[in-house]
Amino acid sequence: MKTVLLIVASLFLSCALPAQKQTTFRPATEWPDTEGKHINAHGGGILKKGKVYYWYGENRPDAGGSMNTGISVYTSRDLMNWENRGIALAVSSDTLSPIQPGCIMERPKVVYNKKTGKYVMLFHLELKGQGYAAAQVGFAVADKPEGPFRFLRGLRPNAGQWPVDFSQKDIDEALALDPAKYANWWTPEWRDAVKKGLFLARDQKGGQMSRDMTVYVDDDGTAYHLFSSEENLTLHLAELTEDYLDYTGKYIRIAPGGQNEAPALFKRNGKYWLITSGCTGWAPNEARMFVADSLWGEWKQLPTPFVGENAKKTFNGQSTFVLPYKNKGFIFMGDIWKPKSLSTSQYLWLPIQFQEDGTPTIPYREEWTLKDLMK
Ligand code: GAL
Repeated sequence: MKTVLLIVASLFLSCALPAQKQTTFRPATEWPDTEGKHINAHGGGILKKGKVYYWYGENRPDAGGSMNTGISVYTSRDLMNWENRGIALAVSSDTLSPIQPGCIMERPKVVYNKKTGKYVMLFHLELKGQGYAAAQVGFAVADKPEGPFRFLRGLRPNAGQWPVDFSQKDIDEALALDPAKYANWWTPEWRDAVKKGLFLARDQKGGQMSRDMTVYVDDDGTAYHLFSSEENLTLHLAELTEDYLDYTGKYIRIAPGGQNEAPALFKRNGKYWLITSGCTGWAPNEARMFVADSLWGEWKQLPTPFVGENAKKTFNGQSTFVLPYKNKGFIFMGDIWKPKSLSTSQYLWLPIQFQEDGTPTIPYREEWTLKDLMK
């Protein structure tokens, strides 16, 4: 009887004890939600609605790389204490669905469409049993920020379209590239062909490959999908239609052949800044940065914004999003992947500092608060 009472009492206590309140950001540690469980929202992004922040991310299983739940959503008012609101977009039990368990859903980003009053989610979608071959983007929509999101479709963007800065001569040149001649990757000739549009031309019919991605809404309400395309060798920035559910067909390539992944885009004082990673899978590498006066370019490449010890490995992390905080500054959000158990992957959130000329710099901090942000 005593033992039973003890068990009941301890069960009660463990349920009733509130999880400890987070008062600082501590990168590269466990980040407990309001129930004390490590947050499971990887490769994520944030939407603010009223005073509430919504954090969407990959809900990863303890083992394996494919999905059996879907996309998580957590809410917070202070960006440190997050309540688990469950699965915003769930995998489907329909065995014909592109989002059935066993598919891969990565890097979800949600934006609010003022014209339609809908919440639109774009994410990287890979089909069950096909590894990373499908290279699609998934579209889902919801009436409320916490979901449930309804899956609309998966596709490869911009079938039949050429980048807006491609002249007829560029198109003819790209179409003349014979893929059989470039079966050997990484040779100088192959690199040159990639830049000229070897894969762009190959994928004209079926649409362009779309893997790591983000969505950016500019001040005028126009949304853009920015994604790793052309075998992860070249980024595409593509304009979305007014309802954010399709493409206008207008797009540019950024850094052709530059192998950029994990794009995170933000605007400060009229300049667009883009932070990316190289392509080494789950393993960290040195981040890159780009700047432009217009989203349509020209994009100029700069060195990594990360400084200090281990900056060459981006403090073991990889970019996923940059969050503007009120008008007080910008938070870099990244993932520290643990491929053996992706659910335990940690987060690398850091305040972005700005040099006098506006260039972002990101030093490491073991612990910080929103007061450390810089305008
Ligand atoms: C990374 C990418 C991740 C995931 C991973 C799979 O390069 O950024 O989102 O796709 O590869 O190996």
